[in-house]
Amino acid sequence: MDLFEYQARDVFEKHGVPVLAGAVATTPEEARAAAETIGAKSGGVTVVKAQVKTGGRGKAGGVKVAKTVDEAQQHAEAILGMDIKGHTVHQVMIAQGAQIAEEYYFSVLLDRTNRTYLAMCSVEGGMDIEQLAVERPEALAKVAVDPNVGIDTAKAQEIVDTAGFDAETGAKIVPVLEKLWLVYRDEDATLVEVNPLVKTTDGDIVALDGKVTLDENADFRQPDHLALEDKAAADPLEAAAKEKNLNYVKLDGNVGIIGNGAGLVMSTLDVVAYAGESVGSKPANFLDIGGGASAEVMANGLGIILGDEQVKAVFVNVFGGITACDEVARGIVGALDTLGDAATKPLVVRLDGNNVDEGRRILAERNHPLVTIEETMDGAAAKAAELAAQAN
Ligand SMILES: Nc1ncnc2c1ncn2[C@@H]1O[C@H](COP(=O)(O)OP(=O)(O)O)[C@@H](O)[C@H]1O
Ligand SMILES: [Mg+2]
Repeated sequence: MDLFEYQARDVFEKHGVPVLAGAVATTPEEARAAAETIGAKSGGVTVVKAQVKTGGRGKAGGVKVAKTVDEAQQHAEAILGMDIKGHTVHQVMIAQGAQIAEEYYFSVLLDRTNRTYLAMCSVEGGMDIEQLAVERPEALAKVAVDPNVGIDTAKAQEIVDTAGFDAETGAKIVPVLEKLWLVYRDEDATLVEVNPLVKTTDGDIVALDGKVTLDENADFRQPDHLALEDKAAADPLEAAAKEKNLNYVKLDGNVGIIGNGAGLVMSTLDVVAYAGESVGSKPANFLDIGGGASAEVMANGLGIILGDEQVKAVFVNVFGGITACDEVARGIVGALDTLGDAATKPLVVRLDGNNVDEGRRILAERNHPLVTIEETMDGAAAKAAELAAQAN
């Protein structure tokens, strides 16, 4: 999960990284009020910054200096609603204005190829770091970071030395890098980037713009991270599925898919994509109800998928292991009966494995007009693809 700049700022502050005062506003009036308080700390000067999860806001006109509260309000009016690389601006941050002497770059990230962490640092920071990395890669220091040690004083010193900082500036940056490491480690981040990390005219080091990516696999031990989620941007179906603890990913097609076990669901997507090629059908989602799924889980899953307007037919593909086929069948029947007349989409069901006979018997007995039972995975995929195509 990527954080907004203002959230990254808050997380930095929590771990002692030097940042400037900042407050979020969603209306020009709120921006004005924030500029009154925050501007007082920097001679009346504030910076109005678009809060969107993409870089290059400065170049796109999403970062504007305001010398008065009137100006802050005007800038907020112009920036709110702006489109930056496909992201609509719903919030701005009013930040304290910095007197910048120099702009640097620092990041630490997960280096998957080398199975370690990597710190990158440059004395030439600011808006064109991507260009710098391509044109003059030697100006961007890359230092491997041992996950078991992290960025301690010695490692931070190595990073600033490799980047070519003078001794005095380097000495000021070292403790900031150590704090940024704490952000990376203690928040379970996979990326912490500061661009620019600035030296002010007073000689202070400040993190002016931060980008943080959190590892969602660590959510179980980071209860605070829940509050950082951008609920407004989440796909409503994915959000509903998450609430029910379902492993669901929305895709673009018209064939809804439910299976048990990530591997089976992945191959079901492949088989449906293949079978659908000639008729123009595609998988609409990934949904793994997991091992040992109960009738209730099946019903919840069906509920989510049938709620997707793009779905024209559903393929339920279950190989009973720990999950018993009769439970799955009960879930299907239960979900259809709960939905009643609201259930209008055809269901193709392929059951095999644990208790398959009982499962098929339950479905046959209910004899629901929308349900087709198929013996094989390929046959079921072809049927579902065909039914979805007919409904278009
Ligand atoms: N609080 C601030 N005070 C003064 N200048 C700022 C401030 N925040 C940003 N800037 C200037 O604007 C530039 C772009 O801002 P930044 O926050 O890095 O956005 P982005 O990386 O999305 O373009 C910075 O490199 C810096 O020169
Ligand atoms: Mg930046």
